[in-house]
Amino acid sequence: MATETSKPLLAVCEYCNGTGWELVEGKGVRQCRCRMSDRRDQLITAARIPKRYENCSFENYHPQGNNFTADEIFRSQSYALNYAQTLAREYPNHDIGLLFIGPCGVGKTHLAVASIKALINKGITCLFYDFRDLLKEIQDSYNPVSKTTELRVLEPVYQSEILVLDELGASKPTDWVRDTMTQIINTRYNDKKVTIFTTNYLDDPETPNEDTLSDRVGVRLRSRLHEMCKVVKIKGDDFRLKIGSNRGRKF
Ligand SMILES: Nc1ncnc2c1ncn2[C@@H]1O[C@H](COP(=O)(O)OP(=O)(O)O)[C@@H](O)[C@H]1O
Ligand SMILES: [Mg+2]
Ligand SMILES: [Zn+2]
Repeated sequence: MATETSKPLLAVCEYCNGTGWELVEGKGVRQCRCRMSDRRDQLITAARIPKRYENCSFENYHPQGNNFTADEIFRSQSYALNYAQTLAREYPNHDIGLLFIGPCGVGKTHLAVASIKALINKGITCLFYDFRDLLKEIQDSYNPVSKTTELRVLEPVYQSEILVLDELGASKPTDWVRDTMTQIINTRYNDKKVTIFTTNYLDDPETPNEDTLSDRVGVRLRSRLHEMCKVVKIKGDDFRLKIGSNRGRKF
């Protein structure tokens, strides 16, 4: 096990001598670049971006489909990229969230993560949660005696300026799940906080026996999502199969 003394000593910053303030020629003093990168690192850690997605960015999202004929797939993926970039660029002036809807593997989570990474670069607090994991953490921290959930789990979800809720509707929609989803989403709505959702459940599924998003989250929550988000439909094939076949293996 590492001991305290085995930690490398941090060199004193050459730009601010450890004061945190850097002199900019002709412009005066500003917060030192070392503090800004510290803050970025802290924000990245606090955002809990899953390892699998930590390299996702706008730069490495390439709309699929046919860009010559600009087919439906290419258009939907280009629009999706564009909406995500607009939110990241214009926030906080632009404060409508996003609801990415589409089948598996079209880059919904990729774009959600790319958005929060761009927002973190602007110094904004962001948090990523797979909705199923969040529900599990809430359930695990539930105290049956006090009938409350530990604030440790819910506070960041309420406080974070931007929240990604990935895989909305993926949990079996029990009453408890619906109540909890409603409470979280309504709290953020009332506080005018931006939330980015992803879901595989379409409003108009291709086959009649598939669940719609309303089936999964309820009609009221579905309409609340409309009020707080721009709905962005993404079409396309599963990108993972593509990567898998290129590398001779499937993920
Ligand atoms: N258009 C794209 N350009 C680059 N990578 C993509 C694209 N679409 C998906 N990917 C990659 O494919 C994998 C699956 O995408 P993901 O965002 O998990 O899909 P979804 O959330 O829609 O199921 C990820 O590794 C993601 O980075
Ligand atoms: Mg996803
Ligand atoms: Zn410094």
